[in-house]
Amino acid sequence: MNIRNQLKRVMGMVTSCTMIFSGLLCAQDPGPAGAEATHAKNIAPVDTSAVTPRPEGSIYMGGFRAPKIEHVRVAVIGLGERGEYQALHFLSIPHCEVVAVCDLFEDATKKVADRIEKRTGKRPAEYNKDPMAYKKMLAEVKPDAVIINTPWETHAQMAIDSMEAGAHAFVEVPMAITLEDIWRVVDTSERTQKHCMMLENCNYGRNELMFLNMVRQGLIGELLHGEAAYIHELRMQMKSENRGCGSWRTNHYAARNGNLYPTHGLGPVAQYMSLARGEDTFDRIVSFSSPAKGRAAYAKKHFAPDHKWNKLDFKCGDMSNSIIKTKLGRTILVQWDETSPRPYDRKNLIQGTEGTLADYPLRIAGERISPEPADKPEDGQPGGAEISSEGGYHEWYEGEKAEADLYAKYDHPLYKRLGEEARKNGGHGGMDYIMLYRVIECLHNGEPMDQNVYEGAFWSAVGPLSEKSVNEGGAPQVFPDFTRGDWKNTAPLPIIP
Ligand SMILES: NC(=O)c1ccc[n+]([C@@H]2O[C@H](COP(=O)([O-])OP(=O)(O)OC[C@H]3O[C@@H](n4cnc5c(N)ncnc54)[C@H](O)[C@@H]3O)[C@@H](O)[C@H]2O)c1
Repeated sequence: MNIRNQLKRVMGMVTSCTMIFSGLLCAQDPGPAGAEATHAKNIAPVDTSAVTPRPEGSIYMGGFRAPKIEHVRVAVIGLGERGEYQALHFLSIPHCEVVAVCDLFEDATKKVADRIEKRTGKRPAEYNKDPMAYKKMLAEVKPDAVIINTPWETHAQMAIDSMEAGAHAFVEVPMAITLEDIWRVVDTSERTQKHCMMLENCNYGRNELMFLNMVRQGLIGELLHGEAAYIHELRMQMKSENRGCGSWRTNHYAARNGNLYPTHGLGPVAQYMSLARGEDTFDRIVSFSSPAKGRAAYAKKHFAPDHKWNKLDFKCGDMSNSIIKTKLGRTILVQWDETSPRPYDRKNLIQGTEGTLADYPLRIAGERISPEPADKPEDGQPGGAEISSEGGYHEWYEGEKAEADLYAKYDHPLYKRLGEEARKNGGHGGMDYIMLYRVIECLHNGEPMDQNVYEGAFWSAVGPLSEKSVNEGGAPQVFPDFTRGDWKNTAPLPIIP
């Protein structure tokens, strides 16, 4: 079968997935009986990159301010590993209340509703057992905001249904897994004038916020290159065979080949460069995958020969490597590997004409960044990492003292404001708390979201575009302009106080 026919075949499969989900039945494990997930046959890339004019009545959503909401009524869909903790974070955030929770499993909604009732004295409404129960919830509860923490292939439709029902949608990463669905989310947000923010929590990590602050101060000159990754060995998730993350995610490794989870590393780098926000935007991507070996080897080692994982043909290369070229010609390396035995890494590297900031471990180097603390800092700030004419770029400035110096001098004002509360509440070192706090703060104050719908769209588009590039032997793929040219008039994300 040639590539054209293969694409036609997979396009048909995606269309049927979308129709099945929106009309009748979710492709997710159908419910408490723990029946087999059926995602694999429904997951595949599709190319619909042609840009049509924005329909009349729809508006550009970059910088959009929704009417202020005094008390935000939140509903949460998906209460697995991620959703349970997302729901509970809201209990420590002012100006909001969790009014409804929804999951396929009754025990999941009961557990979260019990915990909310115990802490607040009020029990949220519970919806469960039916993959479409969330639609009943949207109609009956009419929430202001819906937080979506379900399997990847359900994100787009749930976000669309939430916006159609009059709610702002906040959707876990990635926003959608096909270009067609990303466009549907963008178009729905523009038509309904509801926010759809993809919840990229890593943009709220302490080091990511600090790098944004340093970049904005011009400490590394003009930006040239970034490196982003999600390298996290997660093979053990395959042991959640019939319920939980492994039960659906494993099927994606079998059915697709590319960068299936690009946004954790890319989101922060894209905001350092202000991509799709006035300064520059996404242009092209090329992608290559390594051989797919680790998942099959793990299945062979840990499961019986006739186990369902041993019947899968794992297509997804263990290490995915993409390079993005921006309109200004900058480059971004994006890697993804959830399979190989190696330490966790998101890279978080940003390089400019005068220096480089990097993570894992936190380190900096540059012409204007001295590795030696200044004896008498002129600005009265703590020493270390001072701007210096001597330069210090042949070695990294790193280690415990360097970290302390950098945080003391360059911590982002938002981290200074919320860091202590974030550390108490936790969630990936506090980044989840800061992100959800900002979601509610922006809705309450009628501020634009820190991540607009187009940023979620571009960052997620790396998934299907990398799949297509891999499928075509590494051929460049052009990013659709989800902003329809309006990125040029969108302000960079400010340094939020
Ligand atoms: N940002 C992060 O740091 C982070 C971390 C983990 C997971 N995630 C994302 O969160 C999402 C969920 O991941 P997870 O690990 O919690 O998976 P999970 O399998 O543990 O949880 C998903 C939940 O969604 C429920 N669900 C599925 N279909 C549903 C439907 N139609 N209606 C209602 N509920 C439904 C399932 O029953 C399950 O409880 C994924 O998109 C994942 O990528 C993000």
